[in-house]
Amino acid sequence: MNSIYLIGFMGSGKTTIANRLGAKLHLAVQDTDKMIELYYQMKIKDIFLKYGEKTFREYEQEILGKVEKINCIVSTGGGIIETPDNVLELKKNQTIYLQTSWEVIMNRLKGDTGRPIWNNQDVDKQALLHKREGKYIEAASIIVNTDGKSTNQIVTEIITLIDK
Ligand code: S3P
Repeated sequence: MNSIYLIGFMGSGKTTIANRLGAKLHLAVQDTDKMIELYYQMKIKDIFLKYGEKTFREYEQEILGKVEKINCIVSTGGGIIETPDNVLELKKNQTIYLQTSWEVIMNRLKGDTGRPIWNNQDVDKQALLHKREGKYIEAASIIVNTDGKSTNQIVTEIITLIDK
């Protein structure tokens, strides 16, 4: 089976769902943010601080090219769809958009200090979600709305929708 990609805004549950899905389907899980940190030996936060978002996006694109293409669940960073070539790549695969409302995201991430874009006071996060929405939809072959659902419910729904 070709690898399955999870996309969605920060706080939509990509990492949690990827891990649970991997465990259920007995597939390895990869996380582009973790791979970036390992490959470049820097925390995401520090990449943003030192080199800025543009460089982070270049790293992210490079890493997307390096993920295991077979039998893997891939959790991606929320901004992966900001790079048009990444959208093209995602479209070639089974890509699941975890669609989550602004209210749920805001509640989940309030107090979060680890995400550079979430913590950037100059960024209107709600506007960013709306701006990205079309790109998530374009990149995805499956859309799962996560609002009000448990991890188990979401994973079960995904399993019924994917080609195994
Ligand atoms: C980003 C989301 C983060 C991480 C980076 C940029 C974004 O991943 O890739 O901080 O642009 O939305 P999560 O979606 O896992 O928070």
